[in-house]
Amino acid sequence: MRSPDKYELVSELARRRGFFWPACEIYGGVSGFIAFGQLGTVLKRKIEDKFRERFLRRLGLYEIESPIILPGRVFEASGHVENFKEPMVECTRCKRKFRADHLLQESAGISSTEAEKMTLEEIGEAMESRGVKCPECGGDLAEPRYFLTMFQTTIGPYAEAVGYGRPEAAQGIFVEFRRLYEQARERLPMGVAQIGHALRNEISPRQGPIRLREFTIIDLEFFFDPEKPGCPLLGEVENEVLRLIPAEVRLKGSEEPIEITVKEALEKGYIKMEWLAFFMALAKRFLVELGVPEDKQRFIEKLAWERAHYSAQGFDQEVYLDRWGWTEVSGHNYRTDFDLKSHMEESGVDMRVFKEEGRVVERVETSVKPKMDVIGRDFRGDAPKVARLISKTSPEELEKSLEERGFYTLEGYKILPSHVEIVRKKRVERGRRFVPHVIEPSFGSDRLVYVVLEYAYTKKGSRTILKIPRDLAPIEVAVLPLVSRDGLPEKAREVHSTLISEGFLAEYDESGSIGRRYARFDEVGTPICITVDYQTLEDETVTLRDRDTWEQVRTEIGRLPQLLREYFRWEREFKDLGTPYRKP
Ligand code: GLY
Repeated sequence: MRSPDKYELVSELARRRGFFWPACEIYGGVSGFIAFGQLGTVLKRKIEDKFRERFLRRLGLYEIESPIILPGRVFEASGHVENFKEPMVECTRCKRKFRADHLLQESAGISSTEAEKMTLEEIGEAMESRGVKCPECGGDLAEPRYFLTMFQTTIGPYAEAVGYGRPEAAQGIFVEFRRLYEQARERLPMGVAQIGHALRNEISPRQGPIRLREFTIIDLEFFFDPEKPGCPLLGEVENEVLRLIPAEVRLKGSEEPIEITVKEALEKGYIKMEWLAFFMALAKRFLVELGVPEDKQRFIEKLAWERAHYSAQGFDQEVYLDRWGWTEVSGHNYRTDFDLKSHMEESGVDMRVFKEEGRVVERVETSVKPKMDVIGRDFRGDAPKVARLISKTSPEELEKSLEERGFYTLEGYKILPSHVEIVRKKRVERGRRFVPHVIEPSFGSDRLVYVVLEYAYTKKGSRTILKIPRDLAPIEVAVLPLVSRDGLPEKAREVHSTLISEGFLAEYDESGSIGRRYARFDEVGTPICITVDYQTLEDETVTLRDRDTWEQVRTEIGRLPQLLREYFRWEREFKDLGTPYRKP
């Protein structure tokens, strides 16, 4: 019999002990959705809090929360309506649907790099020439077509008010940019993060917590002045070694990472922006703190056709997983001014920032004013729409067309010189107006939970020990009376409530033998078990047992809060929590 892989072992433990499991199991489950139990919820929150501490608080960046459902215009502007789609094929016999490019990889051995590059037509041809059939029933497959992977809905009872579930939290930041910038006292650089649910209607997700239809995304949008792209904090990370697979190496057919410092990667031009490199280095350190060794991480540069539509350069941070091999845990993209510019064009609201500088710039600003009386007469019911289109369009382009051709076409409406007034204003500015550029690091929290569990999962004989980094443990300390009589439970409860009021995630447990209780807490990654025994009643000392080595030390109850605080802050090691203790 095949022995289970790590994914099966971790999933079984996760389900049984309350980390996560497939949602709606009573209705047969629905792929792409998971529920987090009491331990998983705390672990996820701690991972997100670590991100907050490492990426936000230390750097003075902000966090916001904005809606999950946004009006269609937001995603029309952002390019998602046009680009957020995947090739899909349907079986003509059993009607099941599959990601066409994934099927090509699995059934025809085409690499993901090649498959991603293919047009819909090429995918169809490759499937036909290689005789790819339905993996479920062997039936013939229909022609591939694109499937929009955003969840579409209507806002209120109005069919025309289309809304989408956000596929990324980033857009919620871009659309609020003006206010956020004002609140940041109009200073750049400025970083804003959002941690929240995102929705992607994946065609056939089959990878548990790795590919979800509803998941938690951690998006950080870091806005900076493109004329001042330098990162003053680079010194903190420049000697950090990254395992990098640059695009030029991939294009030569290799996927072998090169080990290179941040500084060299910038000098050699592998990473084009300093802030991009800075956040990649932080991401590497972050994953090390989540328990992933350096040699199990790498950054792979996306080739031009693999990049998201908004990205000018992008790297995926990948972690090696037992079942799936190299798997993306975060994306690092240089989004340029793409998003703010797109929202500026769609909304007609100026997203530029003004920077006062020594220079004085005199310029003539042209704008176009719709003449409502003439527009009303000529376009009747469509007049408000035509006026809106005119206000959004580029004044220069419109003016040029009116001059050269005598008209301008906007979504099929013929605009004549009589419909508009060209207004010119002279402006003197003591500075520069520009649209900030953006570097985006983006993580998936659910994946990170899985990654932490897979890397923490170890066996000692037949016993499972979850070596979760101590500060991420969902139960930090367990307080256990050696036996459940003779006043030991009362004393243990006293210790437990002291630790709770000191802010520790402590649990009390008196059921079963002490050995079984230790095993139960090892399995959920509790770093320390505190045992109250007969000696405690005499001298107010307890034993502390280490999850990873099973060593024990003895210490005074009164010192516990301070010692444990230092231990969980990594300022003190287990052996320094008391005097070595051997059971009498
Ligand atoms: N905002 C990052 C992403 O969509 O992947």
